[in-house]
Amino acid sequence: MKNTIFLLILSIFSLSSWAERIHVIPYPVKVELKNSRVSLPQSAPVSSKIDASLGHADEYRLNISRKGIDIVAQSKAGLQYAYETLAQLRAQYDENLPVLSITDYPRYEWRGLMLDCSRHFYTLEYLKKQVDMLAHYKMNRLHLHLTDDQGWRMEIKRYPELTQQGAWRTFNQQDSICIDTYKDQPEFALDPRFIIHNGGRTLYGGYYTQEELRSLVAYAQERHVEIIPEIDMPGHTQAISSIYPQFTATGEASWGTIFSVPLSPAKEEVYTFLQHVLDEVIDIFPSRYIHIGADEVEKNTWRESRECREMMERLGFKTYEALQSYFVNRIHDYLKQKGREMICWDDAIEGGDYHAPDAAGALSTDANVMYWRYWVGGVPQRVTELGHHIIFTPGDPMYVANPDGPLYNIYHYPGLDLVPDSLQHLVRGGQVSLWGESMSNFRRADYCIYPRLVALAERLWTPSEGRDWQDFKERLDVEKAWLTAHDVHYARTNALLTAMQTADKDRKCMLLSFDSEYANPDIRYTLDGTVPTVSSLRYDGEPISITDPQTVTAAIMENGTPREPLFVRELEYHKAVGATVSYTTARWHESYKAAEVATFTDGRRGGNGYGDGLWQGFTRSFDVVLDLGSVMPVKEFSMRFMQNIDPGVFMPGKVEVACSEDGTNYGAVKTIINDTPDTQKGTIIKPFATSLEGNARFVKVHVENQKGFVFSDEIVIR
Ligand code: ACM
Repeated sequence: MKNTIFLLILSIFSLSSWAERIHVIPYPVKVELKNSRVSLPQSAPVSSKIDASLGHADEYRLNISRKGIDIVAQSKAGLQYAYETLAQLRAQYDENLPVLSITDYPRYEWRGLMLDCSRHFYTLEYLKKQVDMLAHYKMNRLHLHLTDDQGWRMEIKRYPELTQQGAWRTFNQQDSICIDTYKDQPEFALDPRFIIHNGGRTLYGGYYTQEELRSLVAYAQERHVEIIPEIDMPGHTQAISSIYPQFTATGEASWGTIFSVPLSPAKEEVYTFLQHVLDEVIDIFPSRYIHIGADEVEKNTWRESRECREMMERLGFKTYEALQSYFVNRIHDYLKQKGREMICWDDAIEGGDYHAPDAAGALSTDANVMYWRYWVGGVPQRVTELGHHIIFTPGDPMYVANPDGPLYNIYHYPGLDLVPDSLQHLVRGGQVSLWGESMSNFRRADYCIYPRLVALAERLWTPSEGRDWQDFKERLDVEKAWLTAHDVHYARTNALLTAMQTADKDRKCMLLSFDSEYANPDIRYTLDGTVPTVSSLRYDGEPISITDPQTVTAAIMENGTPREPLFVRELEYHKAVGATVSYTTARWHESYKAAEVATFTDGRRGGNGYGDGLWQGFTRSFDVVLDLGSVMPVKEFSMRFMQNIDPGVFMPGKVEVACSEDGTNYGAVKTIINDTPDTQKGTIIKPFATSLEGNARFVKVHVENQKGFVFSDEIVIR
């Protein structure tokens, strides 16, 4: 009885507090609802004033009472945010507004979106629409990647060839992929407005005149959005070097091993040219920041160049990364002279004292660093410890060109909070970034940006105490109607199931839980490999626990049928789950570290791509020892590997396994020889398995790399 009363009180309490959540995104810092309503027509006056003494940048206070609507804001941007909140309340309550007082301000100063205008182009109208969208979500940065190998998009009066030639291309591989991929999805077809026929050639492209860019800047300023131009250098510059090949170290505008041949840091005329370009960029864009890229610079041609080598010697540099820092620092100095701050991608920190100790090659501390290389360990820590300001856009989850990335991962992205308190002042904020290789048209771009931008807006504005995933999803359900009404073609696929898997060592089971972008999905699942139906087990929010090998098949039910694609995962709690793994010879390759020492024993299997963060990659043979925690009977060993020969991923030549009870005396070595030809194409995933006998606590494994990369995701011991 006591329990029943308690539950009743709890549910009344949660119902009433539930009913009191307002539909504002991002959710305000502090909302005091007075549990009453006041009728105020749309035409009711709003009294507003700026008070610069409010405690937080861009703070606003919004009061709705019988006396009317009253706004105080710390800045003009704050005033805009107050009106935005009011507009969202109006959309929810119309004239019958709740009596309330709101105190609100952003958690992070940088809340943005990046669009890559080079790989595929966007009209000025589309950019202005994104400014409107950012303003609606109280975001404030639109970063435009205006130049890259595939196209130069900004008119430069001094060098008209940059757009006359550099803004147009014959269809490249990315265009062909788009044309091919979207053959069966006409709504995502390549935008015909950017295709022209010229002198018998079909060309793709476009560019913004300076006048157009000025109008965009003015439009954005009125909405308190800063446009951040990015002119990528010294790599990703084929649009420059195909016109001025003399600017590369070899005098050729070719493609290197992985990336295009960069500009030379040893040629004075390169700096002169870039400074002239930046003069015009600075003239058009009044932004505090200018982004100069500095990502993915392939330095082979610098190594081949006598001029570059002499420069290295003269400056006392030991690495070509230091030479890149020299280049970046020089451009940075130029921007500083012009009163601007520089942003560069995080690749640019490598000249300093980490991988390549070389004080002379350090990036200057006042460079702002944009973090994207999520697979490289500890970058945010390094960046901030070096004293740089940091802007977060880690490829996972903030690169949104793949529309399947879960909303959950953006809403819950932990990285910004992992920077220690003492360095938090260096965290400017974050953005989602839309690389354009597959952005065939605006619907496709919308589809990739939304609704994840909405989740990011709340992640970067609302403090963690105020964020509530379930409540956000309820508000997003409402917001989707707003997106539709504003002709935003948001993704529906993100609503699919996402799964989280953990091992429970105490209960000796795997735990699987599901999430969905839908607020209240009807998730059904089976454990026998059959397709779930409305009468299958219902997932109620409690993790599913699995011990013996089982296949979980799950789906969201819609109109009585399971929504495609189904979620299918084989799970088992085997003896190696949670085992401690020691790497006794080589460790993983830094770019493919997966879950580091936990990779082989976390019970998670990789998918079909070795870059999914579940496969660990090695360029050498390696040895690991598993400690199962106690001596136990063992019958079977198996370890999964992948082959995909085009990018250089091969099965190991052989795998050797030996068992021990004490970690010193090992029994007979079992050898598993590879039988997959190293010429076999496609993605092949295969377990290397052998039987075991007797008892073991320690299992020693030797994996022989025959060539290229070896990738493995899990060791199973039964
Ligand atoms: C990048 O994705 N190359 C910054």
